[in-house]
Amino acid sequence: MTKEETVPFEKLNEIGRIYGTPTYVYRQDIIKRQCDRLTGCFSNLPVKFLYAIKANDNPFIIEEIKKAGVGFDTVSYEEVILCKEFTNNYKEIFYTENSMSDEEMTKSIHDGVTLNIGSLTRLERFFKHPDTTECCVRINPAIGDGHHAKVNTGDPESKFGIRIGLIEDAVQMSKRYNKKITGIHAHIGSGIKEPDNLIVAMRVLLELSEEFPDLEYINFGGGLPTPYTALDAPFDVEYFAELAEPVLKKDLKSRPDGFTYFFEPGRWFIAEAGYLLCEVQTIKDQVETEYIGVDTGMHHLVRPALYEAWHRIVNITHPDSAKEKRYNIAGNICESGDILGFDRLMPEASIGDILAICDAGAYGMTMASAYNRRSFPAEVMLYPNGTHKVIRPRLTAEDTVKRFVKDCGYTKAF
Ligand code: LLP
Repeated sequence: MTKEETVPFEKLNEIGRIYGTPTYVYRQDIIKRQCDRLTGCFSNLPVKFLYAIKANDNPFIIEEIKKAGVGFDTVSYEEVILCKEFTNNYKEIFYTENSMSDEEMTKSIHDGVTLNIGSLTRLERFFKHPDTTECCVRINPAIGDGHHAKVNTGDPESKFGIRIGLIEDAVQMSKRYNKKITGIHAHIGSGIKEPDNLIVAMRVLLELSEEFPDLEYINFGGGLPTPYTALDAPFDVEYFAELAEPVLKKDLKSRPDGFTYFFEPGRWFIAEAGYLLCEVQTIKDQVETEYIGVDTGMHHLVRPALYEAWHRIVNITHPDSAKEKRYNIAGNICESGDILGFDRLMPEASIGDILAICDAGAYGMTMASAYNRRSFPAEVMLYPNGTHKVIRPRLTAEDTVKRFVKDCGYTKAF
């Protein structure tokens, strides 16, 4: 079955009519499929998975992914607080810091989360803290990848991780303070184009691990890609596991009991499950270019504007209309760069048609903003039996502004 045939466009159109637009819809069956596929890999090895909740942190989504036995990967203290809603065992919350403040560090230490530290200056402050015993360190493996330069984190010049040349200093520092580095971590980028790069980065970490005498786990990061265009080959995670397994099996031989390997994908779990539904509000030609204007934009899905990311856009009200046209799909934000799709051949659109922007489950709602003081989209979960429920209601325009003015503490001047 092709990807197209499996998409319940009729159902999505119905949901768009019931809840209005803009609305993010997530298919629970796809989330489960992605969880099952990943957790089914590496079954003979002590491999565990963490969900990088930055991809989509709606509590109902986190809960769904947690059901598969997946832990939590966080990158801010706010995300840590959110994950504390889902577990009593805060040690299973992995917190990869990035210019963390002393206050955030102290709170994380007292919560007992697993801190992953990415610079020597922060590592020293951590070791100096009287209540600490152990942590993980993030290493820059000097091999990067990603769907765009802005999401390549393993490049030697990127801001992330402790560079290989300073590893020895990190180890010496732990000895000086009589503390332990029990884990090492690397994340080379998001939307990895060459799965081989992930294997290479894994080998780099395994080799460097010899420098760390107290190691209990290694975290190889996330980055598993999503096929957004018909030209993108779907990521064959089972094949990836086949390549990685012998590497890990060999490594495991020299490890103590209880040793664990982690991966921490975000996009993998949720990108393909999500659709951003919007309604056609405007149709016009600007001499050479035909525009469809919709009731969403870069404030709800910033990926096209920020990374020139391509998302499939389908007219789900008239998916099979005989006449086709080329359109630019424009958002409703006051910026020329607010274009969700360029030069798309699609059925001739009418005002009021609903469009589905596909594969929008990851880094959609979490990157949404209130720019132009717009309201956020609603979010809906769609279950395989056709039922659905709102997992984040839409605020009216009036309530959005009222809440904003109140949050600012402003009271009417006249
Ligand atoms: N671990 C760390 C330390 C990360 O920084 C990230 C993503 C992940 C795991 C999960 O990566 P994933 O498996 O989702 O590729 N906004 C961009 C993606 C930025 C990813 C940032 N870090 C986008 O929309 O493509």
